[in-house]
Amino acid sequence: MTEINNNVEKINDFRISVAPMMDWTTKDYRFFARLFNPNVVLYTEMVTTGAIIYGGANRHLDFNKEEHPIVLQLGGSNPQELATCTKMAEDWGYDEVNLNVGCPSDRVQNNKIGACLMAEPNLVAECIHSMQKAVSIPVTVKHRIGIDDMQSYEEMLHFVDTVAATGCTHFIVHARIAILQGLSPKENREVPPLRYEDVYRLKQERRHLTIEINGGIKTFDETQQHLQHVDGVMIGREAYHNPYLLAEMGQLWNLEAPDRFEIMQQMMPYIHQRVAEGAPLSIITRHILGLFQNLPGARKWRQALSGGNAKTINDIENAIQNIQAAMQRTEDYIRAQKCD
Ligand SMILES: Cc1cc2nc3c(=O)[nH]c(=O)nc-3n(C[C@H](O)[C@H](O)[C@H](O)COP(=O)(O)O)c2cc1C
Repeated sequence: MTEINNNVEKINDFRISVAPMMDWTTKDYRFFARLFNPNVVLYTEMVTTGAIIYGGANRHLDFNKEEHPIVLQLGGSNPQELATCTKMAEDWGYDEVNLNVGCPSDRVQNNKIGACLMAEPNLVAECIHSMQKAVSIPVTVKHRIGIDDMQSYEEMLHFVDTVAATGCTHFIVHARIAILQGLSPKENREVPPLRYEDVYRLKQERRHLTIEINGGIKTFDETQQHLQHVDGVMIGREAYHNPYLLAEMGQLWNLEAPDRFEIMQQMMPYIHQRVAEGAPLSIITRHILGLFQNLPGARKWRQALSGGNAKTINDIENAIQNIQAAMQRTEDYIRAQKCD
């Protein structure tokens, strides 16, 4: 029987969050990410209402109690189904539920999920209203600044105002439009130019709303710049490829940045537990490849853990020792140079 994580707390610090990312922000990644920073808000991958209702709540809603504060992102456009899943999320212990109005993939458009819903603000408002009525936890929206031929700031404002009329107060805005025909989801995260100014303006003109900005943000300095204009910064790819960024974000709370090896020490019992439960090692190791990103050991670490190279937990332990020894040698070398 899966443990229900019902120590829900109201999230009141939205300054930094890790974006929902399909196949990436799994519960194993989230457990790992949490070790870098106790305060950042973590989002699940998008889960469709159909998957939860017909595919089993355990499989799709399960998370570790260490992951709080945690938000479930839902994909769907049927108000009743969304309400049902939002209630399940609340019972399951999620701190908030977010509706995906930003994902541009064809697969989801065919089911009226994601960014295509920006063209239907009334339907989104109906969905949010229905979700809010079902629960007492907050319901939020993640959307784009526009889609296809709906690209102006005014049209985005109309979308936000329509949804905000339901009482929804928290919007996460990916500062790019999505082109629904002709660009792949990956291209839709890279090709349309970032328009941060539109998100800043939204905050200026709707000061009572909580506005989080998303898209292309990679460093602590950039984050601080954005926080001068908006309430929060959502980080996607960089938090995955370079999770230590989350430790650097600890400066916002005057937290001391944890050591990478200490993080692995805390991760190892979790890996043991997951493997004992029957999880293949590779579904966990693929999320920790970025641990040494931007450091000399980064490549060795990746090589040791990817492509099926880590077959047993011992292989991970050996990789940690090898990197540690290599770093020690580099440090000794640098120290010796300084003495000369
Ligand atoms: C592999 C991958 C999967 C994604 N899946 C989702 C998703 O399930 N729901 C969603 O709202 N956005 C999804 N996104 C978009 C991210 O949440 C984010 O909006 C986007 O990557 C831009 O932020 P970034 O530049 O910081 O990465 C995904 C992005 C990536 C790279």
